[in-house]
Amino acid sequence: MTAVPNIAVDGARLWATIMETAAIGATPKGGIRRLTLTDLDRQVRDWFVAKVRALGCTVAIDDLGNIFARREGRDPSLPPIAIGSHLDTQPTGGKYDGVIGVLAGLEVLRTLDDLGIATEAPIEVIDWTNEEGSRFAPAMLCSGVFAGAFDRAFADSRADRDGVTFGDALDAIGYRGTEPCGARKLAAHFELHIEQGPILEAEGATIGIVTGVQGMRWFELTLRGSDSHAGSTPMHMRHDALLAASRVVAGVHSIAMEHAPDAVGTVGLIEARPNSRNVIPGEVFLTVDLRHPDDAVLAEMERRLREAVDDAADEARVHAELVAVWDNPAVRFDTACVGSVRRAARELDLPARDIVSGAGHDSAYVARVAPTTMIFVPCAGGLSHNEAESATEADVVAGANVLLRAVLDTDQRMAERRGDG
Ligand code: HGY
Ligand code: MN
Ligand code: MN
Repeated sequence: MTAVPNIAVDGARLWATIMETAAIGATPKGGIRRLTLTDLDRQVRDWFVAKVRALGCTVAIDDLGNIFARREGRDPSLPPIAIGSHLDTQPTGGKYDGVIGVLAGLEVLRTLDDLGIATEAPIEVIDWTNEEGSRFAPAMLCSGVFAGAFDRAFADSRADRDGVTFGDALDAIGYRGTEPCGARKLAAHFELHIEQGPILEAEGATIGIVTGVQGMRWFELTLRGSDSHAGSTPMHMRHDALLAASRVVAGVHSIAMEHAPDAVGTVGLIEARPNSRNVIPGEVFLTVDLRHPDDAVLAEMERRLREAVDDAADEARVHAELVAVWDNPAVRFDTACVGSVRRAARELDLPARDIVSGAGHDSAYVARVAPTTMIFVPCAGGLSHNEAESATEADVVAGANVLLRAVLDTDQRMAERRGDG
């Protein structure tokens, strides 16, 4: 296979686009609040579409709002090599989660244009709708539909905590395209992302060669007791839903600790009603997020969770309704794509190490329908899903250069395999 040309992205231009889009939903603490399918999401989508159209890309939008920006290759009949991630953020998100993956893709297109490089296959940069799952659960909802994990009606029906459905929100921002989600075939999918954990920084590695993603399961728990007076209700007569919830929160922590260091368990959202200081809470809604690289251990963690919920409900004399809303098994990425990333990091002489992703990503679903892998770069202190999330320009640019080379290497590798390289 001929060597990939020794080219590099325009790092200053890439960094400038990251800072430019960070203004869309900027928060006073230096983060971004750009929830999926809000007007801020529309604004950044409009920005992205305008930039790729200015490069001469054709833009396709499917019926769940996934955006595909296509740069033609020498053979337009070939399925595209994709570079994807997401532009939606957490409520208190950072500047880099998801964003660097889409904008590094834009930078790859710009670099190929600047240098007049043609690829055999088309290249498509993808903005996946609702990766975060914060407003509409579950996460990676639309890459999940693309991969056949959910159907479109399920996605459209998902509602936020104000009762707004995904379908109505998508229509409201005008990004429901006509192409059926999942109809488009991909030759490969690469995603550049911050690690969102502390390993790369701690080990002085610039590049994470991501070999897979751990398994994850989400649950929604509603505990129903009875509101009553905080002063005149004796302790033995209470049906305190928040007492039960507190036992479940502690139980989730214990379950994760039992399977440490690889297991994690989180109660991230909790709502007590009526939320009045002198009323015993009659109802609590909370979410549970369990993760582990081994699906069998994850199943055991779920079994223990169900036990902990039953015990907590019995003790507080309340009713518990536990709903499993998401089950995403552990994923192994494509060895040939991982090999392209490994070669690129080596050729660029970048310190690298293999890593399994603790966070979920669109690539975890896309891997079901196309050869897929990811490239990680460090973030300060491993902090993410936090407005203080930060990464260095040097690391992000290094990741983008690995992405550029891995995509070109894959284009060549696939061309040679077809015999037209
Ligand atoms: O939840 C996750 O791991 C991803 O950040 N949506
Ligand atoms: Mn992300
Ligand atoms: Mn995220």
